[in-house]
Amino acid sequence: MKKTIKTIQSMKKKGEKISALTAYEALFAGFLDNSGIDIILVGDSAGMIFGGQDTTIPITMDDMIYHTKSVRRTVEEALLVVDMPFMSYQVNAEEALRNAGRLMKEGGAEAVKMEGGARILKQVKACVEAGIPVMGHLGLTPQSVNQFGGFMTQGKSAAEAETLKNDALALQEAGVFAIVLEKIPAILAKSISKDLWIPTIGIGAGVNTDGQILVTQDMLGMYEKFKPKFVRQYAQLAAEIKTSVSAFAADVKTGCFPNEEESF
Ligand code: KIV
Repeated sequence: MKKTIKTIQSMKKKGEKISALTAYEALFAGFLDNSGIDIILVGDSAGMIFGGQDTTIPITMDDMIYHTKSVRRTVEEALLVVDMPFMSYQVNAEEALRNAGRLMKEGGAEAVKMEGGARILKQVKACVEAGIPVMGHLGLTPQSVNQFGGFMTQGKSAAEAETLKNDALALQEAGVFAIVLEKIPAILAKSISKDLWIPTIGIGAGVNTDGQILVTQDMLGMYEKFKPKFVRQYAQLAAEIKTSVSAFAADVKTGCFPNEEESF
């Protein structure tokens, strides 16, 4: 059954946890969709995982549209959410609206995600009023890595926790349909999730959010640059890929590949 923002919101009401993973291209997106994932996010993490960048800052609107179009081709049931890249929405509501519209019209997104709280409320409202569903993202918002001075846990002090709570309530009021909470103390994520009627999707935010999201390549043990503490690896695909590639290279060198059956 096709999942919509209403399906996702009704899951919170029913106490059913929401599963979400990232995808950047058609092949993996198809695997996720066929496996029953509720939300597929075309994350701007594509810039790091796919593009080899150190942060999510360099990825562009055109890059995101390319990834979204690829993912769109194989996603039938999951809700397809797409990240708005850095500086595609920060300047003002008009730019946010135009760029969110491009992700939907050109890419096939069903919702967009923006990072930040009080400072993006105008942008969120403009999109929601135009019929574009928006997902919020609070806590460790990677587009602000230079302001934070690194990828560290957010909301640890009482003042920071208070700001995050107020941001979450303000985003809900502005019309977001769900909020990602990234790398914040579990106790704070629990309290925010309890205060909101919209779902929270956690990443490094403990077990008491309404759903969980991970970067697929982290979860499959493919991304080797670093492994955050909150990642659980369900496979070791990097090792398996390297073993397979070495075996192929050796077979080519020794003349074991191709054999007669693999030839015409
Ligand atoms: O870009 C991304 O992958 C994200 C996460 C929440 C996984 O925003």
